[in-house]
Amino acid sequence: MLTTVLGVLGLISCATAQSSSVKVKWLDGTPKYLSGVTFGLPWPRGQHLANATTFTASGDAQLQSWATAYWPDGSLKWTGHALAASDAPAEEYIITASGPGISTRSRRQSNGVKVSDTDNDIVVNTGKITATFPKSGNTLVSSIETGNKVVGINGRLILRSQTGTPDDDEDGKPVALDHFTFESKVSNVTVSRDTIARTLVTVSGVHTIDGDGSHADWFPFTVRFYLYANSEAIRIVHTIIYDGDSTKDFISGIGIRFDVPLAGEEFYNRHIRIAGVDGGLLHEAVQGITGLRRDPGIDVRSGQYNGTLLPNASTWDQKVTSRLQWIPTWSDFRLTQLSPDGFNLKKRTKTGQSWVKIPGGTRSGGLAYLGGATVGGLALGLRDFWKKYPTSLDISNGATDTGSITLWLYSPQAGPMDLRPYHDGLGEDTYAKQLDALEITYEDYEAGYNTPYGIGRTNELFLYAFHSTPEADKLSLLTNYTNNPPVLFPEPEYVRDTKAIGGYWDVPSAVNSTAARTIESNMDFLIKFYESQVEERRWYGFWDHGDVIHTYDDDRHQWRYDIGGYAWDNSELSPDLFFWNFFLRTGRADAYRLAHDQVRHGGEVDSYHLGNFTGLGTRHGVQHWGDSAKQARIATPVYRKTFYYISGGDERTGDLVHEVLDVDKAFVLVDARRKVRDPSVVYTPDPKALYLNFGTDWAGLAQAYLIEWERRGPRWEEARDKLLESVKTYPRLKNGFVTGEALYNSLTGAWSPPPTDPSNSGNITVSHLSGVFGVLETIDQLIEHFGPDAQNATKPFYDAFLDYCYYYGASKAEQKARYGADFGSLSLKQGHSRYTAYVAYHRNNATLVPRVWTEFLGDGSKDGLAPTAPWKTERISGSDVLIPVDEAIWVSTNAAALYGVAGIESLALVGAPDVNRIAGNTTTGR
Ligand SMILES: *[C@@H]1O[C@H](CO)[C@@H](O)[C@H](O)[C@H]1NC(C)=O
Ligand SMILES: *[C@@H]1O[C@H](CO)[C@@H](O)[C@H](O)[C@H]1NC(C)=O
Ligand SMILES: *[C@@H]1O[C@H](CO)[C@@H](O)[C@H](O)[C@H]1NC(C)=O
Ligand SMILES: *[C@@H]1O[C@H](CO)[C@@H](O)[C@H](O)[C@H]1NC(C)=O
Ligand SMILES: *[C@@H]1O[C@H](CO)[C@@H](O)[C@H](O)[C@H]1NC(C)=O
Ligand SMILES: *[C@@H]1O[C@H](CO)[C@@H](O)[C@H](O)[C@H]1NC(C)=O
Ligand SMILES: *[C@@H]1O[C@H](CO)[C@@H](O)[C@H](O)[C@H]1NC(C)=O
Repeated sequence: MLTTVLGVLGLISCATAQSSSVKVKWLDGTPKYLSGVTFGLPWPRGQHLANATTFTASGDAQLQSWATAYWPDGSLKWTGHALAASDAPAEEYIITASGPGISTRSRRQSNGVKVSDTDNDIVVNTGKITATFPKSGNTLVSSIETGNKVVGINGRLILRSQTGTPDDDEDGKPVALDHFTFESKVSNVTVSRDTIARTLVTVSGVHTIDGDGSHADWFPFTVRFYLYANSEAIRIVHTIIYDGDSTKDFISGIGIRFDVPLAGEEFYNRHIRIAGVDGGLLHEAVQGITGLRRDPGIDVRSGQYNGTLLPNASTWDQKVTSRLQWIPTWSDFRLTQLSPDGFNLKKRTKTGQSWVKIPGGTRSGGLAYLGGATVGGLALGLRDFWKKYPTSLDISNGATDTGSITLWLYSPQAGPMDLRPYHDGLGEDTYAKQLDALEITYEDYEAGYNTPYGIGRTNELFLYAFHSTPEADKLSLLTNYTNNPPVLFPEPEYVRDTKAIGGYWDVPSAVNSTAARTIESNMDFLIKFYESQVEERRWYGFWDHGDVIHTYDDDRHQWRYDIGGYAWDNSELSPDLFFWNFFLRTGRADAYRLAHDQVRHGGEVDSYHLGNFTGLGTRHGVQHWGDSAKQARIATPVYRKTFYYISGGDERTGDLVHEVLDVDKAFVLVDARRKVRDPSVVYTPDPKALYLNFGTDWAGLAQAYLIEWERRGPRWEEARDKLLESVKTYPRLKNGFVTGEALYNSLTGAWSPPPTDPSNSGNITVSHLSGVFGVLETIDQLIEHFGPDAQNATKPFYDAFLDYCYYYGASKAEQKARYGADFGSLSLKQGHSRYTAYVAYHRNNATLVPRVWTEFLGDGSKDGLAPTAPWKTERISGSDVLIPVDEAIWVSTNAAALYGVAGIESLALVGAPDVNRIAGNTTTGR
């Protein structure tokens, strides 16, 4: 049955293009260095058959290609591509897809990466380095060789925790605490099959204390190592999940450590480099021979400073060489970034001796090198090091045969991480009290739900191997590289035309309309405003980086970081979609960064990966995991989909989508609307009859199913069948989408009437929230994916959706005429203008266009961002504020997100506003 609807898989109905070329360009200018890169490309339906297409890159660049998504007809929808490392990357690349039915003069690509996979380990040779990944034990990387030298060994993870925090003792007296140090324990190691340009080694496991059993194994990790042909670097994507008890398991350090063999290297030929500010570096040696009372000679001094091999000591001034034993050796160096504003540095000769301060600075580039002029060494860096504070870098044992570099993703110098709730419950022990509290702080509290159990964090690191100490300029370049890894992206017009990621956005119009230009410049204002707020308000930190705050407190000139539901935003009303869609249409690097950081935040910290809430996210609040509203609307992959595909299928993001595939299991354990449902409704969650909201619950699941289907993941047929069943059964609800909430059979995907209306006589539950978490975008993508061949199957569903689009903003009289009652008072009209634009476009109804702009710019903008808003910030300084800030009291993140999403979509769907036909509009713009 399915095949008749969807077309026989693998058969492409329309005439296929034989060869097509797509240009990709660097987001941020051509990099001076490239350790390899992966990117994604979309393709229009029916153009290239998955298994019969070959890809080549211009300039004969070594290219590896794979499918990341398919149209239902078996043609490619998205592909991933990897380019090998290069010292001279091209300004742009043309990727050519050929086939089916054409024989290409495709260069036979040799495997740029050599992989050996045995029972004990996986060995990867990039041509520049060889790395060995054991399949069991405590080390993730047992050795890294370059130029026949072993320059790194024992790559492992470290975790420290303690049973409490000294903060709980007012007098600062030592509290009796147990302290634990854990190491990684590897349980699973896999390697990807293709090796033309890159290979991926995935290592997972837990943290363990060997031997004494004083603490159970915990804190699962997945660390991915990306190795590119011809590269001296390894990109490391490090994911951890917190699975402790926040009252007992206080994390005091999360680290990744590599040892560096130094035996045989003279102390004065051992070098330490630590990244400082703006490309700056600390230049030190284990045994310094500069600044001494006697001069070993200019070549010796400048050689050590530069990190080159010093001339034989017999050639130096003997006044120095005869006294080398009196010059201390420095074993340990430590950079500590406990705030986004400053770092401290110090060093010591060895354990047991005092530290000596080294002048510090503001924001460290987060990279450290340890090695020798002849033995070589390693550099290890963390992307966004200072933004992820508290972080630190340790070089230790530099004066022994085996030194080490530790990158602390959570610094042991910071004091333990306290993940307990920030208040004691305030006596809110009934739903009635909790709802009343919501009235004042907007926090939706419930004991037991404010748990960090199952939240995660993903960090990105780079490891670089050297056969001798590199020049400082090189390390400076690599520091910048670590923080700004290059990104390749096709032209926005091309992406749009493929229809692979939404038909509701367009590039900024060339049409010369003042009104459209004003909307464009306002959206630009908002993007830049959030960039500035991240910096001015220091929205940084281990758990916080990538989030923004929900609402502003005008009186304190401060975002409401401490007020219940007004604090961390957790993707409320889709700022992610604003930032990603803005990026898609402009290709702008700044928008990419905002959106990228959100992906790494919302998908990880605001969502659960273990436990009862797996696949759900948490509503906005003071702590990212604190609010008791656990909802799919926050975890929905619609927020991460653009990144997933344009990154060539970022594997961690792919995992997150899989978690949401099972969110129906969480719906059984957690009744999302338990507190707000009509008390007369008796509801016991049942997998066959989950009482779900169409927009805030199902849309997230549907997006996960859609991606699983697109990428032909292990459950794609189940996902497709359930989507089809939903599409078939939903329109049978008398009022279609206006029903709002109904019973969903998670085993089949079928909808049936809600318990309030078992006979399907027609319920009306229209919430302002249903439509503002990506449901329109998900349905648009879904219908596009089903495609023209499935139109008979999807039409009733789509019609019901278009009715919803029409009636949300229609007059009460129209609503009543159609449904027998009106929808009551609804808000978020500006954000819903895109629904009106969507139905205007898809029903070809030009008479609706003035309504779109009345909602966006006229009456509807009154609870959004009106044209009459200032559209500028105001500088506040002096004693009014802690530090000078730019504020815009008229901006809330809800309003900004909706303005952006609706602005982009409405402009794309109905074109520039005609300002003479907007009801309630008092101004034509600025
Ligand atoms: C491509 O070929 C593989 C192996 O024969 C097959 O499993 C897969 O389904 C094919 N994909 C498509 C989209 O036809
Ligand atoms: C090992 O990891 C691979 C992917 O990296 C995953 O597919 C597989 O299920 C894992 N196996 C176990 C036993 O965890
Ligand atoms: C150290 O580097 C500087 C600047 O590149 C250079 O002028 C000098 O010759 C170098 N010294 C040695 C001994 O390599
Ligand atoms: C760092 O890299 C970015 C992105 O490639 C580039 O725009 C910037 O100029 C670089 N900064 C320095 C100091 O080289
Ligand atoms: C667009 O309009 C502006 C002002 O209305 C005018 O200065 C400009 O020349 C116009 N540009 C085009 C390409 O028509
Ligand atoms: C998970 O849900 C079950 C059933 O509701 C409950 O008994 C259990 O305590 C929950 N576990 C956690 C860790 O919350
Ligand atoms: C749903 O429909 C039933 C039957 O018409 C009615 O009694 C009930 O009040 C309706 N509830 C809502 C929320 O519309």
